[in-house]
Amino acid sequence: MDYHDLLAKLGEGSAHPGGFTATVKLIDSLALPERGQVLEVGCGTGRTACYLARNGYRVTAIDLHRQMLEKAVRRARRERLDIRFIQADVTSLPFPDHQFDVVFVESVTIFTRWRAALSEYKRVLKPGGRLIDREMVLCGRKTELMSRRLKHFYGMRTLATMTVWKKRLKQCGFTSVLVREHSRSMGKWGVDHDPHRELDMALFEDEQVRRMSETNDQLLARYGKRLGYAVFDAKVPPDER
Ligand SMILES: C[S@@+](CC[C@H](N)C(=O)[O-])C[C@H]1O[C@@H](n2cnc3c(N)ncnc32)[C@H](O)[C@@H]1O
Repeated sequence: MDYHDLLAKLGEGSAHPGGFTATVKLIDSLALPERGQVLEVGCGTGRTACYLARNGYRVTAIDLHRQMLEKAVRRARRERLDIRFIQADVTSLPFPDHQFDVVFVESVTIFTRWRAALSEYKRVLKPGGRLIDREMVLCGRKTELMSRRLKHFYGMRTLATMTVWKKRLKQCGFTSVLVREHSRSMGKWGVDHDPHRELDMALFEDEQVRRMSETNDQLLARYGKRLGYAVFDAKVPPDER
């Protein structure tokens, strides 16, 4: 079992810094185009995708993890929401160019080959389209050991500062890269009540889960102070086509 298998079994609805409270506040502040086409990548169990759909956006949501997606599909069904869910990899999106007004991402790009992921987000956005990406960022000193341990346990592929992420976004063709939020802590998540959470009860008897939860606590205690998050708001130039 890896970290994402654990999150899927936990049915965690908002597995990102700041949790669902931060998501709602962010979406409500964005002034996205009414009835806009939104692609959520790495949607997990679909809580954010459902919130976007409830707010009138036309939502497509993808994730690589089958169990995450199954829970997301059931969540949307229970909420009677029409969302197109697809199992796919963010580094190879199954969509033609220039399909979406917005690509929305929360704590996903750090787990991927960032250049391929950012390039794909840009490719599927319409001219003038907008990428909103909330990612964990490095706020303090990075050591080889820290990097290795975090990457090994969480499956992260990159641990970079906010400044480095801004450069990466520009390298991949985004313009006017803004930072909408920046926190030098990871914020709280897993604390908001999620009425549609599907928790696998067998977890509580699983020794591996207990060990993973201990490792998670140890890593956060050791390195948490050097980790924070940022929300990037990056635009595709309007005249690209
Ligand atoms: C930390 S979880 C965040 C899930 C969701 N965005 C949320 O905030 O609750 C990371 C998610 O990214 C997905 N993911 C990781 N790498 C991916 C990839 N290459 N393509 C698609 N999804 C991926 C995982 O399956 C997982 O659902």
